[in-house]
Amino acid sequence: MAFPFTLKFLVIPFLLLINVLSSVESDSNSIPKWDIDFLEFPLNLEYLEAEFFLWGSTGSGLDQIAPDLAVGGPPPIGVRKALLDPLTKDIINQFALHEVGHLRAIQARVKGFPRPTLNLSIAQFSDMMNSAFERPLIPPFDPYKNSVNYLLASYLIPYVGLNGYVGTLPKLLSVESRKLVAGLLAMKSGQDAVIRTMLYQRRLQRVTPYKITVQEFTTRISNLRNKLGAMSDISSKDEGIFVDSKDGAEGKIQGNVLSGDPNSLGFPRTPEEILNILYGSGDAKKVGGFFPKGAGGFIAQNYLQPK
Ligand SMILES: *[C@@H]1O[C@H](CO)[C@@H](O)[C@H](O)[C@H]1NC(C)=O
Repeated sequence: MAFPFTLKFLVIPFLLLINVLSSVESDSNSIPKWDIDFLEFPLNLEYLEAEFFLWGSTGSGLDQIAPDLAVGGPPPIGVRKALLDPLTKDIINQFALHEVGHLRAIQARVKGFPRPTLNLSIAQFSDMMNSAFERPLIPPFDPYKNSVNYLLASYLIPYVGLNGYVGTLPKLLSVESRKLVAGLLAMKSGQDAVIRTMLYQRRLQRVTPYKITVQEFTTRISNLRNKLGAMSDISSKDEGIFVDSKDGAEGKIQGNVLSGDPNSLGFPRTPEEILNILYGSGDAKKVGGFFPKGAGGFIAQNYLQPK
C-alpha cells in the first residue's frame, strides 16, 4: 500500500520539473536570465585571450580581424607582437582564431557587452609575476620577449577559463546553454593542455636571466591563483606542472601535465573566484590587474554596485 503513495510523491515533483524545463526549451531563442548571466561572464576571458593571442602571434588584434566582435569597446592597453619561434607562433595563432569563434558563438546567443578595457602591458604581467614570486624579478618579466616567457604568460589565463566552465556547466538550466559551454570547455581545456605540455617539455629549462626553472614559475603562478582565488574553502584548485607525488594523479606521480583534483577531475571555480584572480586583488569588488575598469556583464558589475 505504501509503495504507490510514495511513487506519487516522487512522480509529481518530477512532472513539475519536466514542465519547467520544457517551458524553458519551448522557445528556443529564450535562454533564461539565470543562464544569460553565466554565458556572458566568460566573454571577459575570451576577449582577453583573443587580444593576447591575436597580437602575440600576428601583431594585430580584434579591431583588424573581426572589429564587429569588439562592439565598440576600447582597444587593449600595452599588448604587442611577441618574439615567438615558428611552432609556438603557429599554435598561438590557432588559439587566437579559436577565441574569435568563441566570441562569435557567445554573442550569437546572448547580448553580451563591448570589449572591456584590458591591460595587457608588460608592466601588468610583470606585476603579476612579482606577486607570484613575492619579490620583484629584475629585470621585470616581459611576456613578449620570447616563446618561453609568452607560454608562461599564457599559463596564466586559459586555465582559469577552464575552471570557470567546469563551475558553470552544472548550474545551467537550458540545453542550449549547456551545449555552448560544453563546446567552450572542451576547447579551453585543450588549449590549457597544449600550453602545459609545451612548458612541461621545458620544465627544467631556466628562464633567463632569472635562473628560475620553468616548473618553478608554474608552481608560483598556480600558488598565486590559489591565494587570490581562495574563498571560504581554502583547498587548492590549481597545480603547477611538477608537484609532490602526493598531489599528482592517484597520489603517485610528480609529473603533472594536467591539473586535477584527487580523482583527476578538473577543478571548478565561481565567477567571484575568477574575478579575484583577474583583478589581481583577491577581491571581486576591487578592480585592477587585467581589467583596470572592471569586467563586463551583470555578474561582474553586480560586485561593483554600492550595497
Ligand atoms: C596597466 O598596468 C600597469 C601595471 O599595473 C600600470 O602601471 C598601468 O598604469 C596600467 N595601465 C592602465 C591604463 O591602467
